Amino acid sequence: MLKRRALLSVILAASLSFGVTSAFAAPPVEGNPAVHAFDNKVIKMISAENMYNNIVYLSQTPRVTSTVEEAQAAEYIKAEFEKLGLQTEIQEFQYQSYVNASEQDFSISDSSYDYKVGSFTYSPSGEVTSEIAYIGKGLEGVDAKGRDLEGKVALVERGDATFAVKMENAVSRGAVGVVLFNNADGAVATGTLGAWNDQYVPMVGITRTEGLALVTALESGPVVGTIKVIGSAMKTVTSQNVIATKPATQKDTGDILVISSHHDSVPRAPGANDNASGVAMTLELARVLANLPSDTEIRFVTFGSEEVGLVGSRHYARNLSENEKARMKGVFNLDMVGSNDAGDLVMYTSNGEKNTVTDLIASASSRVSVLPAYGPETRSDHHAFYEVGVPAALLIHAPLEPWYHTPNDTPDKISKEKLLDVATIVGSAVYQAARPDTPALERSKVAPVEVEYEETVGRL
Ligand code: BES
Ligand code: ZN
Repeated sequence: MLKRRALLSVILAASLSFGVTSAFAAPPVEGNPAVHAFDNKVIKMISAENMYNNIVYLSQTPRVTSTVEEAQAAEYIKAEFEKLGLQTEIQEFQYQSYVNASEQDFSISDSSYDYKVGSFTYSPSGEVTSEIAYIGKGLEGVDAKGRDLEGKVALVERGDATFAVKMENAVSRGAVGVVLFNNADGAVATGTLGAWNDQYVPMVGITRTEGLALVTALESGPVVGTIKVIGSAMKTVTSQNVIATKPATQKDTGDILVISSHHDSVPRAPGANDNASGVAMTLELARVLANLPSDTEIRFVTFGSEEVGLVGSRHYARNLSENEKARMKGVFNLDMVGSNDAGDLVMYTSNGEKNTVTDLIASASSRVSVLPAYGPETRSDHHAFYEVGVPAALLIHAPLEPWYHTPNDTPDKISKEKLLDVATIVGSAVYQAARPDTPALERSKVAPVEVEYEETVGRL
């Protein structure tokens, strides 16, 4: 079997020598003409140039979850779907999100020492002044046991338990604030309490040296400390999914296939590969498939707020009706599908088992490209569908590129060859199942080409 890269250069060279207008439009696949006629219908229309241009457009700025830039990306995507004549809607949703403190401080009375103070995500805001009580590492049954912390500020050492456990142990004994010192020299203690909890009290971090000095001071008498956390809060934020629908044009089987991606990015990352690449591919496959005959409904969906915990896809999946879920036969989730510096294409399912989507991808890739490996992974939007019982798979290149979630995730790292390869495979796979002459998915074996794909890879 040809190695993926070698095969792609043959494809690219061929597209040039056949005089195709765009150097990156895929050439027809050769071989069994009966099998490939349908693939070629899709493949010959795919343009890597289109995908690249949309990646450049979308990654001009980070599209951080629940910001104006995320909403603008959603509006742009909606307008692009509408240009294709697809029925399109923005599905808005709201959720609770933590706003970081604008300021935090720690001080002790009768001292002008300026503590280096770190913050904890999910610490509530507040200002407390009270006697400090040292509770070691704050472990249940060891350090905190029997201690009366009523109305006091708990001083605790990092290590051996999560920050949340230390907080809970301190609060359950009546503490009104928590100061945590590091278990290593150097950096100030910072971290996350994992989730919002109404019982929590203001918490700050200090250095190990500062913490140990306080422990010593406490041995010779009471010390009063003041903790200030200002501006932190849980806030209701808004985000949006974009949903475009291509209805079946004939012999409607009732089946629904979905091509999805997320359009948000992490802070400071332009997100060219994560995930303007997936969005650009969703748009390009929508363009290619929009006017082809099908007996299957195809939905093109881009999600907001993926990066903060699959919020948009969970909102979408959990709001599907029972009827829609039963008809939804597969979700092809595209996330990070164009990096020059990542590994080969992999298809991941949440439980690592094959399903309709991996079968269709295996079959299509064996006809038009190179068979990807598969394995278990939950860290993208396909998982939201798995949670509600809809077959789904993530398409991604692994191992990941070094620019993942960094300001260097820019369009110059994008490979048009990789974009073309993945779009070719996914387009062929979806069209195989959606075209009117293949039987409805639940009544047929989806893969006319039998494929053995036993290679597995671990989690990313
Ligand atoms: N694009 C990544 C996909 C990914 C999957 C990266 C698996 C690495 C491993 C995705 O956007 C992402 O970064 N996901 C989050 C997890 C999510 C549940 C918030 C992550 O991996 O930090
Ligand atoms: Zn992503």
